[in-house]
Amino acid sequence: MRLAVIPGDGIGPEVVAEGLKVLSAVAPDLETTPYDLGATRWQRTGELLPDTVLDELRQHDAILLGAIGDPGVPPGILERGLLLRLRFELDHHVNLRPARLFDGVRSPLAAPGAIDMLCVREGTEGPYVGNGGVLRKDTPHEIATEVSLNTAFGVERVVRYAFERATARPRKHLTLIHKTNVLTHAGGLWSRTVEEVSVEFPEVTVAYQHVDAAAMFFISDPARYDVIVTDNLFGDIVTDIAAAVTGGIGLAASGNLDASGTNPSMFEPVHGSAPDIAGQGIADPTATVLSVGLLLQHLGRTEQARKVDAAVAFDLSTRDPQATIRTSDVGDRLAALA
Ligand code: NAI
Ligand code: MG
Repeated sequence: MRLAVIPGDGIGPEVVAEGLKVLSAVAPDLETTPYDLGATRWQRTGELLPDTVLDELRQHDAILLGAIGDPGVPPGILERGLLLRLRFELDHHVNLRPARLFDGVRSPLAAPGAIDMLCVREGTEGPYVGNGGVLRKDTPHEIATEVSLNTAFGVERVVRYAFERATARPRKHLTLIHKTNVLTHAGGLWSRTVEEVSVEFPEVTVAYQHVDAAAMFFISDPARYDVIVTDNLFGDIVTDIAAAVTGGIGLAASGNLDASGTNPSMFEPVHGSAPDIAGQGIADPTATVLSVGLLLQHLGRTEQARKVDAAVAFDLSTRDPQATIRTSDVGDRLAALA
């Protein structure tokens, strides 16, 4: 397995070290190439993502990313120039975010139920494509547009991926989340696509919810969901709610997938570089380790993925919730369990 590693900034390198500890325990054929990208490199050299680096990244089976960001970098530079650029160049059209409430983890909800959902968020279209502009800036007549782009091709491939995942899960249930009553143009394309693809997956039951209603159900009854498919912006928001009700930022894992396998997919914890705790060795590496599990599953290494998940599940069920986390202790425990 040829893995490109982008530790990044802040706690990124700390959690990635533990992710690799666990990965090498289950996948002895692991070969890693580290890449220095992020705020530190930009501050030093002005470079974000040189084309030569992008070409090299393409030569790998997958990418593991820690976190990118620093309070000293103006907003937008790293997001557009590095994170979003990676996503668009490598055609990461599926943003995969599971949300499962593990035994032993406290949800902020009083009666959360058995939460185990898989959010499939579109990753390369919607309002995130940068299609827009500003006219008459800084005047009372300023105009700003941000156009949501939805293509039949782009919607179909992510919907198909969601059905494939749903059909492989015990509940075989898929919920489309959108706002079809107001966003009728994009919403129409999404609903028709779900309807058309559903014919190929007769065993999967399909539901639809408006995003505002879904935001309530994510709090009042999150256990109702199995697989969710939704557009880029709605997915960004509802997956954060899903993370919050299943134990928060230290546990939320994600994958940015090119489901066609043409480009390497990239796996990362959902959290950022956490400058407030960086360098103290107290970041929870569990989100990164769960992302490693997604990576293994994506590469078809089902048994190795299962070992990583089982290690996390056991560790979480036996953790003392009062005890302070030591990043490397968690990694050591998980690597030994896996
Ligand atoms: P953040 O996720 O870095 O931190 C939010 C809060 O959660 C902080 O209090 C932090 O200490 C805590 N936290 C985060 N990860 C944790 C972990 N593994 N264990 C324990 N506590 C953890 O979000 P914030 O503060 O908004 O952003 C910090 C920087 O990270 C910014 O520069 C932002 O742009 C960047 N960022 C990068 C992302 C990425 O690389 N994909 C995603 C989100 C933010
Ligand atoms: Mg987000």
